[in-house]
Amino acid sequence: MPISEDAGGAVLSDGHGVPVARFGWRDEGGERVALMFRPSPGVPADRAARAGVRELAGRRIRSNDEEAARALIGAGCTLVRAATDMHRGFGEPIPEAPVAGGWSIVPHDWDDELAAALSAAYGPDHPDQADRPARLRSLTEGEQGLIVLPGATARLKDPGGRSMGEVFTVGPVPWGSVPMSWVLDLAVAPGGQGRGFGAALLAYAMRGTRQAGLTIVGLTVTNGNPARRLYDRMGFRPVLRHFEVRAPQSPAGTL
Ligand SMILES: CC(C)(COP(=O)(O)OP(=O)(O)OC[C@H]1O[C@@H](n2cnc3c(N)ncnc32)[C@H](O)[C@@H]1OP(=O)(O)O)[C@@H](O)C(=O)NCCC(=O)NCCS
Repeated sequence: MPISEDAGGAVLSDGHGVPVARFGWRDEGGERVALMFRPSPGVPADRAARAGVRELAGRRIRSNDEEAARALIGAGCTLVRAATDMHRGFGEPIPEAPVAGGWSIVPHDWDDELAAALSAAYGPDHPDQADRPARLRSLTEGEQGLIVLPGATARLKDPGGRSMGEVFTVGPVPWGSVPMSWVLDLAVAPGGQGRGFGAALLAYAMRGTRQAGLTIVGLTVTNGNPARRLYDRMGFRPVLRHFEVRAPQSPAGTL
């Protein structure tokens, strides 16, 4: 069998039965996704990638290994997303980020205006375009069961009382090596951008995380999103790069 299972997850072998890569499986919305794809020790990335493309046809494949991701793309996969995880501890103070002009940060609640603000913030050309409310609900109510951190989750209101953005934070998250929160969403509708509200929402999430006794705030930013500058400025530091590719339905040479 080209794909077998052992205690460490799935093992991918080449046509000669030699193990060339490892990965894990996860079901996401009815689709089986290959996670943490990495070449076996001593195996060149391109050899592992060729086997991956052949045996994982049509599937999404994720990797934290940049060389493996490049080799998968070289073997015919399409890049879906390259992103960076960032962390912010509390060694340095949380910057002051006032909310001016009658705007305010209030407890989180879903309403139609917030849904509209999020779809405007993530316009059609945005790399993370998706139905945010549905996605956030599935992460917090679905099988992943992430726990919303109320003191670090909030809504931005304009002077007329309309919802114009949010910061949505969960924690403690199960993948943290120390007790940490994770900002799953930060967004401000285009009409409110560039006036410090994004920074204020992020500072709110940081304060709420510290008050909850957690020691790090994490988030993931898609490479190329200008929000990265805001995170750098607010003291977040990159800790991990990750890549998602999709393997072609029919690997080259099999048609
Ligand atoms: C990221 C976001 C919440 C920032 O909100 P904001 O209210 O404009 O933020 P602030 O006014 O506090 O800070 C502005 C900073 O945001 C960053 N930024 C984010 N998107 C930007 C854009 N399209 N153009 C310019 N700067 C942008 C910049 O760092 C900018 O500050 P700088 O020019 O001094 O470097 C907002 O741009 C947004 O909703 N973007 C779309 C959704 C998104 O990508 N969210 C982040 C997911 S990881």
